[in-house]
Amino acid sequence: MKTVAFFDTKSYDRESFKKFQDPDINIRFFENKLNSDTVSMAACCDAVCAFVNDDINSFVLEKLESYGVGLVALRCAGYNNVDLKTARGRVHIVRVPSYSPYAIAEHSMGMILLLNRKLHRAYIRTRDHNFSLEGLTGFDLNQKTVGIIGTGKIGLTFSEICQGFSMDILGYDPYKNNDFKGKYVSLDELLESSDIISLHCPLTKENKHLINDKTIEKMKNGVFIINTSRGQLIDTQSLINGLKSGKVAAAGLDVYEEETALFFEDFSDEVIHDDTLSTLISMPNVIVTSHQAFLTKEALYAIAETTMKNLKSYFDGEELQNEISV
Ligand code: NAI
Repeated sequence: MKTVAFFDTKSYDRESFKKFQDPDINIRFFENKLNSDTVSMAACCDAVCAFVNDDINSFVLEKLESYGVGLVALRCAGYNNVDLKTARGRVHIVRVPSYSPYAIAEHSMGMILLLNRKLHRAYIRTRDHNFSLEGLTGFDLNQKTVGIIGTGKIGLTFSEICQGFSMDILGYDPYKNNDFKGKYVSLDELLESSDIISLHCPLTKENKHLINDKTIEKMKNGVFIINTSRGQLIDTQSLINGLKSGKVAAAGLDVYEEETALFFEDFSDEVIHDDTLSTLISMPNVIVTSHQAFLTKEALYAIAETTMKNLKSYFDGEELQNEISV
């Protein structure tokens, strides 16, 4: 029997993994995030399963190696939280490259519809018997230009949704995707021409703070910015400046630069000490969701199924198809 330590788990993780249980794999569910302080919880385990806000740094990897843990199975697609350089040749890292692009693409469109038609404000108004329409004017999405940065699995699915709204679609990606439902342009042209900009590229060293003072300056007045990708793609202070000046009319953020300490946990009884996040949340034209875009039944089941296959392949000594530490 092999034992796997699952970090940062919630009830919905436990439920979906129950469906794909393997008699030879004993899962130990922990609520703690994996980081330098908690890595010792994985001692005596054969593998570890981690999520987006676990910090798989060099110290963590060296400790895991010393415990004889040979595999970190990420139950997500992104891997910007892993020190791959340290991992290579010492600890295998596998991921779930694709589970449901629909979940994330649909969440992105959901945020656009909510921000544009001000549904979050309308919901609160009518519950308070306030039936005024003042301040709720939106615009038709029909014929508006959406700029998609990153046209991989999620960006492509998002472009198909935008096509359904008869939007003009622009894309920027260093690698072209033949199925993409729009016109490829340079990043500058996308920034200058889009009414709505949606981020769907991975976070890399090169594109950290892709959205900053300079790139916001190039955008149309009144642009919407949607980020369901990774928080560090946006320099949050630049975004706040853009929102304050009115250059940015609205922002939909499912991810946030400093989300690790906050997202997935309930702080409703406490004062939040992150003034930047508090500023964003206080704005009527900003919606923050706590890295929720992946959270559909279909995505959770697909994540659990692929993760269990990844673990089984490792324990059976088979080739690791979803390895990223090669
Ligand atoms: P993918 O690998 O299929 O596509 C990513 C695309 O981005 C590729 O075509 C790549 O060439 C392109 N790209 C890379 N660097 C770029 C840059 N600097 N500018 C423009 N394009 C660039 O990945 P997929 O599945 O579409 O996921 C995209 C991202 O979505 C993930 O990396 C992850 O950060 C995020 N994500 C967020 C979730 C959430 O719950 N909020 C859930 C799943 C993924």
